[in-house]
Amino acid sequence: MAPQLLWIGLGNMGRGMVKNLVEKGNLEKPVLLYNRTRKRSEDLASKLPEGKTEIVDSVEEGVKKADIIFTILSNDAVVRTVFSSALAGGDVAGKLFVECSTIHPDTTAQLVRDAAAGGAQFVASPVFGAPAAAEAGQLIFVPAGPREAVERLRPYVRGVMGKGEIAFEDEPCEKALKLKLIGNTFVLNMVSVLGEGLTMAEKTGVGAAPVKQFVDGLFGGHYSAYGDRMLSGTYWKMEEPLFSADNARKDAGHAMDLAKSVGVELRHAAVVDDYLKVVTDHAGGDKGDIAGMYGAARKNAGLKYSVFVGLVVVVAMSAAAWFFSPKGENQTTWRSSLILAFASCYLMWFVTFMAQLHPLIEPRRSDVREQFVTE
Ligand SMILES: NC(=O)c1ccc[n+]([C@@H]2O[C@H](COP(=O)([O-])OP(=O)(O)OC[C@H]3O[C@@H](n4cnc5c(N)ncnc54)[C@H](OP(=O)(O)O)[C@@H]3O)[C@@H](O)[C@H]2O)c1
Repeated sequence: MAPQLLWIGLGNMGRGMVKNLVEKGNLEKPVLLYNRTRKRSEDLASKLPEGKTEIVDSVEEGVKKADIIFTILSNDAVVRTVFSSALAGGDVAGKLFVECSTIHPDTTAQLVRDAAAGGAQFVASPVFGAPAAAEAGQLIFVPAGPREAVERLRPYVRGVMGKGEIAFEDEPCEKALKLKLIGNTFVLNMVSVLGEGLTMAEKTGVGAAPVKQFVDGLFGGHYSAYGDRMLSGTYWKMEEPLFSADNARKDAGHAMDLAKSVGVELRHAAVVDDYLKVVTDHAGGDKGDIAGMYGAARKNAGLKYSVFVGLVVVVAMSAAAWFFSPKGENQTTWRSSLILAFASCYLMWFVTFMAQLHPLIEPRRSDVREQFVTE
């Protein structure tokens, strides 16, 4: 009999994954959907063909009805809470849990034990790829666990939600999470290096555009995509981040913890975390996107204060003009000409500077009407 699927977690990743599951999964039964915020389940269900999804009101209700349960949730605490509801809700013997969140390997190890105690199968399968890849069914799955359980997951991976897999069959589930955390340090380091490089380009007068051309020509792919998000400022305008600062700090923290446990120093992750703190302070950890590391680098480079520094310089020059203008009947003309010239130059520069000001270093304005938002 065709298995009944339940999906728990309809955030940035979960929504795209379910869409592909429904469209390409050859499912005989509607996918059960559970999300803490019910509206997200309703919005997704309304976009998918009728009868292909069914919303459930609790984790317990969904787990009771399902054979295979997918979860993709923010962090370890949320995953633990959802699993304790899932496992406490009734008989889970023979059911398969597929846990796709990025969490600490130790948390995964505990979930494996809890699932086994209830007689359930467990596969850890974190995923590589941004929300756009989830939407396009192009994720890379990293399934780990008993071969037989991984085989139960496979019909929903290649050609459905993913483009490939890096499997750890019959290996501890924690291995998948370790790979995921190592992989995410690559992504986070890349974003911080881009942010620093583009800031350097501005400060040295090279300009961001040539550096973007270099990045596109030499690296492309994720580098170019993040470069676009930085230079266009889209990450600042989004109401929902694509990769939140909170989730990224969680990943960097887990990676540093894992590294420490094996005597490796992850210095870059600490730098990334510092940048992400700035993004969090500025936009909120659940609202700020990791591309905001560019804004953090710019802020650290003092670009924010240029207008004030410029003002102080012009005031100082005007004061000098006042005191050092040649005495005599033309002194007033000297003074007013010089001060007016300095003020005019400053105003011209100020207007040009403000027109180019990068949005991240200004407060979020979700109340700005669409027609006034410029690209
Ligand atoms: N974004 C990426 O680029 C990316 C890529 C690969 C892997 N990941 C990993 O995938 C996971 C999900 O990422 P995402 O970007 O989809 O995150 P997200 O958009 O923030 O979604 C988080 C999900 O967790 C749910 N949730 C949060 N707090 C909860 C709580 N206290 N109780 C119950 N549910 C709760 C949210 O429900 P509500 O809708 O009610 O808030 C939502 O369904 C994370 O572990 C992340 O590290 C992300």
